[in-house]
Amino acid sequence: MGKKIVLTSGKGGVGKTTVTANLGIALSMLSKKVALVDGDIGLNNLDVVMMVENKIVYDIGDIAEGRCRTKQALIQDDCFPSLFTLPSAKTMDNSRIPPRVFVSIVNELNQDFDYVLIDCPAGIDEGFHRAVAGADEALVVTTPHISAVRDADKVVSLLSTYCMKAVGLVVNRLKGNLVTEGATMDAPDIAKLLRVPLKGAIPEDEEINLSSQISKCKDKSSARLAYLLLASYVDGKDTKVFDCASDYRGFFKKLQRVFR
Ligand SMILES: Nc1ncnc2c1ncn2[C@@H]1O[C@H](COP(=O)(O)OP(=O)(O)OP(=O)(O)O)[C@@H](O)[C@H]1O
Ligand SMILES: [Mg+2]
Repeated sequence: MGKKIVLTSGKGGVGKTTVTANLGIALSMLSKKVALVDGDIGLNNLDVVMMVENKIVYDIGDIAEGRCRTKQALIQDDCFPSLFTLPSAKTMDNSRIPPRVFVSIVNELNQDFDYVLIDCPAGIDEGFHRAVAGADEALVVTTPHISAVRDADKVVSLLSTYCMKAVGLVVNRLKGNLVTEGATMDAPDIAKLLRVPLKGAIPEDEEINLSSQISKCKDKSSARLAYLLLASYVDGKDTKVFDCASDYRGFFKKLQRVFR
């Protein structure tokens, strides 16, 4: 039996899908068997980010309607053999995958995988509740922007109505220079505000959107390190969180900025 973790945010576009994909990659680098489940029914972003959209034969809608078995719809990753993606239904009406069916698919995966990561849709309506119902832990993803933090706060209080074993926070798209200048909140401040344990801080990084198979397999960016720390935290091996501002602190860095 593995862990079933939903990645949610309330606000759209803060990086749920990107974090789901990259946390999955990082956990598989730690030799874990991981299933990524696209809970954003109808929008299918996860298979695009994982670059497996051309390999889709069946999707979650086919499982729900009995056209295939769960295993037949899973797509194995080319770079990371212990990583699998379960694509969302492309054109399916949201209501045709009821929460009870979604939960049973996730529970079936949970028998075979160390981690089942569920990519939640934006908002707090039907799709949110279906994705959250499938999980026993949650990672709330936010950016340092005030509107995202406010929505994360709403989601944290909604999650308290579910029987989650753990709720953690991931602050995404942190710009270290803005943190040191005090122009944006740092991840620990946001965690304190939301009263949720900080499990990860991910820097702003243009390379992280996995634009090519090569970057996905060989990426050595600081964001990759941040994701490896997040994976170790989630896996209970460590409690270190990436310091996105470390490159900008210290006397010489200050001097460099003054002369720039
Ligand atoms: N750390 C980062 N640095 C730079 N760009 C990022 C980072 N994280 C995410 N992005 C970019 O932000 C955009 C939105 O990310 P993503 O699609 O993962 O968000 P989302 O929360 O899943 O959105 P939605 O709510 O629509 O499902 C994408 O273009 C992605 O490449
Ligand atoms: Mg998404």
